[in-house]
Amino acid sequence: MNKGKKLYEGKAKIIYSTNDKYLVVQHFKDDATAFNNLKKTKVEGKGVLNNRISECILTNLEQCGIKTHFVKRLNMREQLIKRVDIIPIEFIVRNIASGSLTKRLGISDGTVLEKPLLEYCLKNDELQDPLISKEHIFNFDWATKSEIEEIDKITLRINDILVGLFRGIGIKLVDFKIEYGKAWNKNENEILLADEISPDTCRLWDIKTEKKLDKDRFRKDLGNIIEGYQEVARRLGIMPEISNIKEINFNKSSSIKFKKK
Ligand code: TMP
Ligand code: ASP
Repeated sequence: MNKGKKLYEGKAKIIYSTNDKYLVVQHFKDDATAFNNLKKTKVEGKGVLNNRISECILTNLEQCGIKTHFVKRLNMREQLIKRVDIIPIEFIVRNIASGSLTKRLGISDGTVLEKPLLEYCLKNDELQDPLISKEHIFNFDWATKSEIEEIDKITLRINDILVGLFRGIGIKLVDFKIEYGKAWNKNENEILLADEISPDTCRLWDIKTEKKLDKDRFRKDLGNIIEGYQEVARRLGIMPEISNIKEINFNKSSSIKFKKK
C-alpha cells in the first residue's frame, strides 16, 4: 500500500490518498484544539493513543455488526480506512448532561438523562458547528430522511454497545460525537461509521471518582491530559506493553521504540 498525497488536513487528523481509489490513510496528529481552534496545543503521544483507542472501539463495534470505515492499523499513528464522502453532520449522543448542553439549557452538570439524547450539529468550523434540527437537515439536503432514520438507529445502537463496553472497564460514557460517511459498495451507497471514537470525541468519567479521562482535561485546564488517554487505553487492554508512556519515541510513525530497562 503506497501512501500518496495529502487530501485533507483537519484539526487532529490528516487524510492521504493511496494507490487504491477506495482506500485512504488516516494519520492522527498530536494537535489538540478546543472551542473551534481558539485554544490549541500539542499533546505528545495523543495521536498514537487515539490511533489505538479508535481502532479498538471501531473493531469492537464491527464485531457487534456496525459497519465502519476501519480496515487496519498501519503504524503507530496511521490506519487504513475506506474512502467515504463525509455527511456534514456531527451526531452527538448524551447520557449525562455536560458541556454545551448545560450551558445552552441550564441543566446541571452530571444530571443523568432519562434516555439518551441525540443532537445534530452542522460540521462547519467557521460557524462553530451550530446545533441544527432534522428540518434543517432535510431542508438543506445535508442528508435524506431515510439516511437519518438509518443513522439514528445505528447511533443509538452504538451508544448501547459503548455504554456497556466502558461500564465494563469502570468508565461512564457521558457523551460522544460521531460522524458517518457514504462509501460506494456494489452499485449502492453504504453508510459507514467514519472519523474516530477516542477521548478527543467522548466524555469519559471514572465511575467511582468521576475523574475526567478525556479532552475536557485540556478544555478545562485540568492538566495531565495524556494520563487520562493513557488510562483509557490501559483499561481497554491495549498497549499493555507500555508501563511509562514517556519511554516511547512518539515521533516515529513506522515502529514502536522502547527503551531497554
Ligand atoms: P459539547 O458538550 O461541547 O457539545 O460536546 C459533546 C460531545 O461531543 C463531547 O463528547 C465532545 C464531542 N465533540 C467533538 O468531538 N467535537 C466537537 O467539535 C464538539 C463541539 C464536541
Ligand atoms: N473539536 C472542536 C475544536 O477542535 C471543539 C471541541 O472539541 O471542544 O475546537
